[in-house]
Amino acid sequence: MSATQPSIHDLLARRTPGHALEQPFYTSPEVYQLDLENIFYRDWLFAIPACQLVKTGSYATLKIGAYNVVIVKGRDGEIRAFHNSCRHRGSIVCKAREGQVAKLVCPYHQWTYDLDGKLVWASNMGPDFDPGQHGLKPVALKNLRGLIYVCLADNPPDFDEFARAAEPYLAVHDLTDAKVAYSSTIVEKGNWKLVWENNRECYHCSGNHPALCRSFPLDPEVAGVSADGSISARLQNHFDACAAAGAPAQFLLGGDGQFRLARMPLQETAVSYTMDGKAAVARQLGRVAKPDAGSLLMFHYPSTWNHFLPDHSLTFRVMPISPTETEVTTTWLVHKDAVEGVDYDLKRLTEVWIATNDEDREIVETNQEGIFSPAYVPGPYSPDWESGVVQFIDWYADWMERALAPQRMAAE
Ligand code: FES
Ligand SMILES: [Fe+2]
Repeated sequence: MSATQPSIHDLLARRTPGHALEQPFYTSPEVYQLDLENIFYRDWLFAIPACQLVKTGSYATLKIGAYNVVIVKGRDGEIRAFHNSCRHRGSIVCKAREGQVAKLVCPYHQWTYDLDGKLVWASNMGPDFDPGQHGLKPVALKNLRGLIYVCLADNPPDFDEFARAAEPYLAVHDLTDAKVAYSSTIVEKGNWKLVWENNRECYHCSGNHPALCRSFPLDPEVAGVSADGSISARLQNHFDACAAAGAPAQFLLGGDGQFRLARMPLQETAVSYTMDGKAAVARQLGRVAKPDAGSLLMFHYPSTWNHFLPDHSLTFRVMPISPTETEVTTTWLVHKDAVEGVDYDLKRLTEVWIATNDEDREIVETNQEGIFSPAYVPGPYSPDWESGVVQFIDWYADWMERALAPQRMAAE
């Protein structure tokens, strides 16, 4: 930022709690770069469901800020991640969004890497060339019960606290038995934090989501967090009934607010996200024995929120692509033996969230548009209906303050 503009330190220091952020947090290339460097380049990010890579040599590519990553299934069945940049002159190795290969072959001069990243062929490189020194650079990867997370940092932060907390909730959903029924990627012309803010409240739902509101409850306790950590008796009864049926449900906020797990009830008669509220898939994914267990809502900042239902599961991946553009990938998972047209109808399975995502895109873009105005001033969040947004913004501000503190001290 120029000398006349406040620094991110000043902006964070003068932030009014319970209010939206000032304009630069949503528009400035400098803040965006700091978000990438201090959050997306440092922490664990959800990448793909493991079942997306079915066969040996199946791969998926992913852009995280300036980085390109390829995730590939090896001959041993292991899933590994690498920097998708050739060790010769840096070309992208795998150009497609996904595919399947016998080996990873660079399109430029055909340097050829095995599925475990080892360089196995490079022509005419002279007698002193050591292929062993030129394998693809690995990227840290964790497989959490069928959900693949990656981390770009050389020394990744702890993943175990989140994994330990999430495993009991996820176990019953058997995501390792899943297949991808459908995947959609959209770009929302809004800062990644606006995408999250919109996700963390349902204050906007009644006015914008006619399809989702057929099954998703408008109770602010479902989307948000109570300020004092209290849980209503009605919700506690639901958690207890789910747990008794073998599906852990208790509200859990962990990692200094970075992740949340809770199995939340749907509208009274609804069991899934369909237009009539009935199950979308006859062949159930997982072993949730209580049909009205609702949706296991799991978010992990900054890259994913998820819905795990008794009949199917949904993963969402949030990836910033510029200060004012964010990619959102939604993947619908069903049991690997569920047959389209027999056990589920694809339109019926996907229509609610395809519509909801598009409605959310529209409101996020309209929000961003309004924030561009010099007249924009951050307004207050609703204490009851937007407690989840307050929680997200507090997490973001605390994280950035902590991450930037050493730089600040060095500058002083
Ligand atoms: S840049 Fe990959 S083979 Fe030359
Ligand atoms: Fe929404």
